[in-house]
Amino acid sequence: MKIKVESEITVFEENQLADDKRELITHAEKAINNAYYPYSGFGVGAAIRLKSGKIVIGNNQENAAFPSGLCAERVAAFAVKAQFPNDDITEIAIAIKPSKPVEFDFAPPCGACLQVLSDIETRQKNKISILIKGKMGRIYTTYSTKAFLPFSFEF
Ligand code: THU
Repeated sequence: MKIKVESEITVFEENQLADDKRELITHAEKAINNAYYPYSGFGVGAAIRLKSGKIVIGNNQENAAFPSGLCAERVAAFAVKAQFPNDDITEIAIAIKPSKPVEFDFAPPCGACLQVLSDIETRQKNKISILIKGKMGRIYTTYSTKAFLPFSFEF
């Protein structure tokens, strides 16, 4: 027996996106200004839109004791749950600022961040779209976190 998994990622040029989505991406890009990434040289910004319309940002925060740092997406997602626990997350935009050239065009959230976002998606019973700005300016989008983490852990 085989189980096959399909994921759908739609790629847009930035000018094909609706204004509100472009605005969210701009928030993610600006969020990189307060990221702290002296060890990796890889800045990440995230901007989350809530059902109420509020926008909550996050950025990667590294630490001299390496594992103590946290990714941009989880900084933003946990800030939402700390401050607006009953407001659903509708979408998250992610932007990167690598300080040295990278091979890939876009960086999806890491497995741990996807697990956190997926868990929130399950709890709120409303899907979370992901918008990722690639280094060539294209936007990679999905309608659910499950496109990147189809087998998230649920308990
Ligand atoms: N990083 C994020 O902020 N989000 C991810 O999904 C993957 C990685 C951060 C963690 C670390 O500060 C740097 O990028 C390099 O891994």
